[in-house]
Amino acid sequence: MLRQALLGVSRSSTIKNLAVHAPLTRQVVQRFVAGEDAADAVAATGSLAAAGLLTTIDRLGEDTTDRAQADGVAGAYGDLLRLLTEDGLTPKAEVSVKLSALGLLLGPDGPRIARANAERICHAARNAGTTVTLDMEDHTLTDATLDVLRELRRDFPDTGAVLQAYLRRTEADCRDLARAGSRVRLCKGAYAEPPTVAFTDPAEVDRSYVRCMKILVAGQGYPMLATHDPRLVEIGRYLVRDHRRQPDSYEFQMLYGVRSAEQQRLARLGHQVRVYLPYGSDWYGYLVRRLAERPANLTFFARSLVSRS
Ligand code: FDA
Repeated sequence: MLRQALLGVSRSSTIKNLAVHAPLTRQVVQRFVAGEDAADAVAATGSLAAAGLLTTIDRLGEDTTDRAQADGVAGAYGDLLRLLTEDGLTPKAEVSVKLSALGLLLGPDGPRIARANAERICHAARNAGTTVTLDMEDHTLTDATLDVLRELRRDFPDTGAVLQAYLRRTEADCRDLARAGSRVRLCKGAYAEPPTVAFTDPAEVDRSYVRCMKILVAGQGYPMLATHDPRLVEIGRYLVRDHRRQPDSYEFQMLYGVRSAEQQRLARLGHQVRVYLPYGSDWYGYLVRRLAERPANLTFFARSLVSRS
């Protein structure tokens, strides 16, 4: 309930203004976001690499409303990939991109514009010796995102997909994508979705996650198990052992600032662990989704809002 309500009010521009300008909001943001600039993301990537962790870097921003902005996002990813290469951080670092940031919602031409921008990023990533993963947004964009993925994979077969276990369709999508060479990140899903398309009971979402994980781990592809849920991590560890997967044939993934000790513990046990590392000034939507995942985060955030008045 609280999660749905929070994700709902996140669309209010009044709440957004209040949150963005509250002085203590910064402290909450810093926990989940590496900084405002690409250099901040590169520095955080270096520290994580020194601790034996891989990264996937997200330049924050979504729902781009004009063409120049969408093209600018692709350019910014190119700059980031150059900085990572200069610092010798690829292929340990890859990038995650949202198609809505690359122009997917710009009317009838949106899918074409987003695909062209995603191709520019894939080229830059290939030159840098690394990969791109397409984040998954709300369910109205699932088909369009998977369409762009299929097109990109013709030239860039290592482009990663994200599937959300809360969607009723996802088991079928897992079967479709569990093919040789196919990199698939499985997460629970972070948006407010109607029961017509998504499981809303957390226990049902967990059961779906396990079914999807079984398909991906048993399949020919490269599963990226993105969850902080201790039970699901343990089931994932059991499944990869049971299927005799080599450590370089799958990854665990977690968010920057969430269960950092567990990230290091899994890496010490010999698993590849990749941290999803966001940076940039457009952090509001990302932050609200992180708060909605864990009510305890809200207390800290609420204090920051109250301190403003
Ligand atoms: P769950 O939310 O049940 O959390 C399990 C436990 O983990 C909690 O009890 C708590 O201890 C800890 N935890 C989880 N979230 C926390 C938080 N924000 N703060 C503090 N503790 C927290 N979603 C999406 O829709 N599209 C996408 O492309 C992606 N991409 C993505 C990449 C990666 C690498 C990860 C890890 C996650 C995503 N997600 C995502 C987000 C995902 O869908 C989901 O919302 C979060 O991972 C939280 O779900 P958990 O599986 O961690 O379980």
